[in-house]
Amino acid sequence: MIYSKINATGSYLPERILSNKDLEKSLDTTDEWIVSRTGIKERHIIGDDETTSDMAYKAALDALKSSTINPSEIDLIIVATTTPDKVFPSTACSVQNKLNIGECPAFDIQAVCSGFIYALSIADKFIKTGAKKNILVIGADAMSRITDYTDRSNAILWGDGAGAVILTATDKPGILSTHIHSEGKYESMLHVPRSNNPSKKDTIEMQGNQVFKMAVNTLDRIVDETLNANNLMKSDIDWLVPHQANIRILEATAKKLEMPMDKVVVTLDKHGNTSAASIPLALDYGVKSGKIKSGETILMEAFGGGFTWGSALIKY
Ligand SMILES: CC(C)(COP(=O)(O)OP(=O)(O)OC[C@H]1O[C@@H](n2cnc3c(N)ncnc32)[C@H](O)[C@@H]1OP(=O)(O)O)[C@@H](O)C(=O)NCCC(=O)NCCS
Repeated sequence: MIYSKINATGSYLPERILSNKDLEKSLDTTDEWIVSRTGIKERHIIGDDETTSDMAYKAALDALKSSTINPSEIDLIIVATTTPDKVFPSTACSVQNKLNIGECPAFDIQAVCSGFIYALSIADKFIKTGAKKNILVIGADAMSRITDYTDRSNAILWGDGAGAVILTATDKPGILSTHIHSEGKYESMLHVPRSNNPSKKDTIEMQGNQVFKMAVNTLDRIVDETLNANNLMKSDIDWLVPHQANIRILEATAKKLEMPMDKVVVTLDKHGNTSAASIPLALDYGVKSGKIKSGETILMEAFGGGFTWGSALIKY
């Protein structure tokens, strides 16, 4: 049996930091409100001359540096993003070009904040079927480019960055299972409608309160689905590496897992919600800070626009 395993992780965060105090200057909000309602203190913002593929490329370089493989051995590139550089070609093709990787398939996945879980799920299947051996999976988003900085309920949430993993074929699990879902009837609760007006920036519109409730209930269900699929108990999970949307959502999932918050990897305070980048950024932080160790069982879960949601259970 072939399994996929995370060979290496990497990340990149743009230099510029936008703190809650900075937001206080232009919005009717306070650091105290933002921290107490979301857990976010600051977020990174992409440079004016930077692109999503620049961030994805740097995260990929970081992962390659700590991996056992050469770029020439990558045989598939998948980038999860909602903020691609161009309408086409895909951000994955731009990353392929920047990394100087020769011919291999490369494509983007669009599942908003669940994008990384979707990409990981697809990559895992390519490896399990024997079709590919070393896959670069990246989550990268420049959410600031689609944020309305006059909308206080929205602007406080988002940040920019990229995280990457290299998945490699192995004979021992690795990725134990992945689960992905979507339900399009909720599309207008969290979306970026197209205005078709070139002078207007298309920005995120969100019914925050309803999204919050749906996220908590849905993540509750996906925890059960993932544990049942693997015949595991809550106590078998060593780490929760969740999509970083709101500390109260993370706390609700930890409670469901009967897990103390010190077993939850939290980067939300420093990164905000970086959409598809948030899980690989948190994973890289968990690994490089020495929290997550080889052989431990990690549950990753995400919820986002669509609605889309998903999970991955991993033996690191
Ligand atoms: C957006 C979010 C932080 C708002 O928090 P909330 O507790 O639901 O707050 P509400 O929207 O109910 O608003 C409560 C009050 O705070 C106000 N408020 C909203 N944003 C504010 C801000 N940045 N600063 C101060 N007050 C704010 C509202 O106007 C409202 O005031 P009112 O009672 O006078 O009308 C929260 O709903 C959330 O995180 N939702 C999930 C969003 C998410 O994760 N989306 C991505 C999924 S991937």
